[in-house]
Amino acid sequence: MIPMAVDELEPRIGVFVCRCGFNIGGVVDVPSVAEYSKTLPHVIVAEENMYTCSSAGLDSIKKQISQFKLNRVIVASCTPATHESLFQRTCEEAGLNKYFFEMANIREHCSWVHMHLPEAATEKAKDLIRMAVAKAANLEPQTENELEITPSSLVIGGGISGITAAVSLARQGFKVHLIEKETELGGMLRKLYRLQPTEREADKILSEAIATVKAHSNIHVHTSTSISQVSGFIGNFKVNLQSSSSDQTEQIKVGTIIVATGAEVFKPLDYYEYGKNQKVITQLELEQLLKGGNLKKPERVVMIQCVGSREKTGRTYCSRICCQVALCNASQLKKLYPDVNVTVLLRDLQTYGENEHFYTEARKNYVTFIRYDQNRPPKVTANPDGSLLVTVYDLYLGAEIELESDLLVLSTPLVQHEDGEKLASQLKVPLGADKFFFEAHPKLKPVEFASEGIYICGTAHGPKTVSESISQAYATAAKASIPMAVGKIKSGAVKATVIKEKCVNCDACVVSCAFNAIEASPFGLPRVIEANCKGCGVCAAECPTGAMQLKQFKDDQITAAIKALFKRDAPARLEGSYKPVILGFACQWCSYAAADLAGVSRIQYPPNVRILRVPCSGRVDVGHVVTAFQSGADGVIITGCLIGDCHYIDGNLKALERADILKKSIGALGIDPKRLEIGFASSSEGQKFAAMMTDFVKQIEALSPKQWTQEGKELV
Ligand code: FES
Repeated sequence: MIPMAVDELEPRIGVFVCRCGFNIGGVVDVPSVAEYSKTLPHVIVAEENMYTCSSAGLDSIKKQISQFKLNRVIVASCTPATHESLFQRTCEEAGLNKYFFEMANIREHCSWVHMHLPEAATEKAKDLIRMAVAKAANLEPQTENELEITPSSLVIGGGISGITAAVSLARQGFKVHLIEKETELGGMLRKLYRLQPTEREADKILSEAIATVKAHSNIHVHTSTSISQVSGFIGNFKVNLQSSSSDQTEQIKVGTIIVATGAEVFKPLDYYEYGKNQKVITQLELEQLLKGGNLKKPERVVMIQCVGSREKTGRTYCSRICCQVALCNASQLKKLYPDVNVTVLLRDLQTYGENEHFYTEARKNYVTFIRYDQNRPPKVTANPDGSLLVTVYDLYLGAEIELESDLLVLSTPLVQHEDGEKLASQLKVPLGADKFFFEAHPKLKPVEFASEGIYICGTAHGPKTVSESISQAYATAAKASIPMAVGKIKSGAVKATVIKEKCVNCDACVVSCAFNAIEASPFGLPRVIEANCKGCGVCAAECPTGAMQLKQFKDDQITAAIKALFKRDAPARLEGSYKPVILGFACQWCSYAAADLAGVSRIQYPPNVRILRVPCSGRVDVGHVVTAFQSGADGVIITGCLIGDCHYIDGNLKALERADILKKSIGALGIDPKRLEIGFASSSEGQKFAAMMTDFVKQIEALSPKQWTQEGKELV
């Protein structure tokens, strides 16, 4: 007897609910969610884990697959952007096709954004799991093709991080294009004086590094060059380079991309007379004076810490390295002019790692430290003789003191370059709330972006010392070298596919595809060219008969999740306490990442919205929206990347067109058009995503409630 294929067997689903320590378990009632999961159709086993991603959690998944002959697995935990591949691998190790795995995001989209509403968060977690279970029951096994990886890398940024990564890759035998927007390599290191703790001159280190780059035949340096366009995917990126010196453009093909664009020092133009009085400078400007031997001996120097950082709004972050820089510069000053009087005004002082000796040394050199309060910052006025008068309320003395000063040095934070956002949008990678590039996961993927094949190092990622930047650059180069060394990578199986019985040869799919991935055939079915198909699902949404489908996001899989969401108990709808339930479609790139970022940033928004992940907003078709309303949705919001930023060129424009048409036509079904909305957010706009959800919930709450029968059906 031929054994049945797994997808022909009755679904046997295992649900694993993660507490994520306190992150989920501190808000969501995890035991009740796990118990509830056992009641869902096809669920054979459900359990809670302290950390499902720990080796104990992964072992448990494998054990349950084998013991209960599970053929579908759901993990309810954090975002799939970071953990999906880990759990998929675990399923594979247990002999289950990885496409039988589904995730419910009950951390970023639930416990972290509804921290003060444990009951609502618990209800929402149950809804998200019910949706995942319904979709999983309809999943099918998939096979993946292999993609060749071009064994070359693009390193963006010719500072010490970019140089280190480029040299490391070149030494491993890979071709590297190192691009730098300035006329020379070096970045910030070019401006620094001596590096601590070795006291080596920055110029010496830099000239040695540049000589290594120039001597290596595998490295092609492009100075005065920036990026004008990026397309493609891991293994096959096509990047257009734009030269600012000759107006020339060049296209290169690379397998991986490393972002090493560095950072710049914040110019404190609105602080302490900076820019108005020449005696007020930044730490970097002091270093440059020391380096050039141009510092006229001052008698009294005052330094102020946390200028433009750790603010209540805006740059709220700590720039990490300013304390060390101030301590080292204070000691350099004392070394040069032992009798100079140096006073550091600080809110707090941190010399992390093994750097406490900088503080000890500064104290030994009689540097004075005075603690001030953020709410009573120092005041600076210019004396008639040109010196400065710094007035500060000393927190320990409990009194205001005055300090005469010939030089005021401000410790300002590192900030993202002006063009950082443009690069982030070209590469379609996120920036964090502090505007630095945002890695996929601080522990699991600390040097990678969620987009495969793109990596990060150095101060583009956040404030770091030179030695930390160099270490990270080596780690990044090692990570980027893996796919290039292997030479191939499995391409995802999320591709378009045709159901021939339903096709009427209208060619709507052919016309809608932005990647020439569907070939028309005058006498037969349209043919999907899998190598070109990017898996956006726009063709499936445009197909009028449902003949064109997207694997893993087929109509029956999406609608099963939608219907499951609204299979809520009728009494809940009839109670006065009933809160509207809204379905939110989010494209897996920007808007889903924005929702994740809202979670990471703990930005709270109302718990009414349940997010369903789709590859692109262009995958959401008319049928999905109508199904949601007919199933009981109080509102539907479609979200995607910013216009112009869709990962599939114009999927979000197609979604916008469709939403406009739907808004005009759903009135005929008795649905108020205000119940449908579409919005766009980049992956770095967690705040905007939360605001969109809040506004839409208010919009729905302002409408008169939908009416329901005893059976839970809407009265139209
Ligand atoms: Fe985000 Fe198309 S990929 S809208």
